[in-house]
Amino acid sequence: SRAKELTIHGKVYQTDSWTNVPSTILESVSRKLHQQDNHPISITRKLIESRFPGYRHHNEFFPVVTVGQNFDSLGFPVDHPGRSRTDTYYINKDTVLRTHTSAHQADVFRANTSAGFTISADVYRRDAIDRSHYPVFHQMEGAMTWDRNTVPEGKTLAQQIWEDVEKLPKPDIVVEDPNPTTHPERNPLQTPHTQEEAEAVAAHLKRSLENVVVEIFSKAKEAAAASTVDEIRNQAQSQEPLKVRWIEAYFPFTSPSWELEIFWQGDWLEVLGCGVISQPLLDNADAPSKIGWAFGIGLERIAMLLYEIPDIRLFWSKDSRFLSQFDEKKIRRFAPFSKYPAAPRDVAFWLPKSAPQDEVVTSTASNTSTSPSPAGGLASEAAAPALAFHENDIMEIVRSAAGDSVEDVTLVDEFTHPKTGRRSLCYRINYRSLESTLTKEQANDMHEKIRGELVSKFGVELR
Ligand code: PHE
Repeated sequence: SRAKELTIHGKVYQTDSWTNVPSTILESVSRKLHQQDNHPISITRKLIESRFPGYRHHNEFFPVVTVGQNFDSLGFPVDHPGRSRTDTYYINKDTVLRTHTSAHQADVFRANTSAGFTISADVYRRDAIDRSHYPVFHQMEGAMTWDRNTVPEGKTLAQQIWEDVEKLPKPDIVVEDPNPTTHPERNPLQTPHTQEEAEAVAAHLKRSLENVVVEIFSKAKEAAAASTVDEIRNQAQSQEPLKVRWIEAYFPFTSPSWELEIFWQGDWLEVLGCGVISQPLLDNADAPSKIGWAFGIGLERIAMLLYEIPDIRLFWSKDSRFLSQFDEKKIRRFAPFSKYPAAPRDVAFWLPKSAPQDEVVTSTASNTSTSPSPAGGLASEAAAPALAFHENDIMEIVRSAAGDSVEDVTLVDEFTHPKTGRRSLCYRINYRSLESTLTKEQANDMHEKIRGELVSKFGVELR
């Protein structure tokens, strides 16, 4: 039997026979990935926002909305499949988890605080399971409007909009746009609009979004060019010019409507939906004198492409091996890590009596290959008979004994015996394969081999 009430962020909702939202989904309501510093979803959001200067950016809207906000305000017919309980998470008959950021359009038009705005938020849909679909994802809505009543005398509304089009940067990409702006059957002009007005709004919309695409791809290319993986770097250098295309689409709340597709790794990838805002929507939002455009873009898709993140589930990871890779100051290609469990084993030993006890050279794993530390140089160049033990020595032994089955090696303890003056080190070797779960025996075998080599090659005394 179902609970009669649901509490979401301190708000209590009555449940009923429509309720179909599981607790696992409700748990993600608190995550707010689009607001989390240095999370790839949040970095992607900011990157797109940067292409809309002067717009107001809303990032705080609550995910529980009314059926009226999510569907009715946008002109969804009563029998639209999007309304069904198989597609949408219902809290109760009148309340849903928003299925798109468009749910807030009418409210923001009604509030009338800025001509242009974006809304970024988590959205919820019951959907298939695969590497690019997850029941919770993030969208950014964008909209721009012009008010007929404030056009200066002697100018038409269309002229005013074209002037604004000219102020936008000219995107440097190849654009395919084979269809006329409007088509009587496939993509109709709305009755209150003139053809000139629709043309001007469409031009402003398309150029604004083409600029977003250019921004994203120049960042993606930069990230690839800076990669330490030769293949990725070469690919970035040999990339053909960026190609996008506009195709006709249908949404209940825009007309004419389009989708933008990007040619990416040999395929056309759909990245956003958009169009000229339907006039009844603006009329019902107390903005009957306005005309404008709106778009909705999926942030995961863009982030996956920007960072080459292979699986949408990774965005929900709390693993520092994922989160630590992202920094909003610099976009770097994502480096995959294993999803199989770790098998940590410690090895503790006394350094050999002959080695200098006070010159153990340690360095962190992250700067071993790309930026050799001065200490690293010293150790390998030293020709003295009693070599200081260098951390890279154990790294080398681990690499040759266990190959890629070790994720990292860290010094977890070190001390000097107060009487003998001998030094003891303890390293944690984290066994983890990229391809399979390692058995206990496999990890133990590799570990035994490494222990043996530490003794035979460096004369340490195992503890
Ligand atoms: N809300 C639409 C979707 O989720 C996208 C969209 C937004 C289309 C705004 C047109 C205008 O698919």
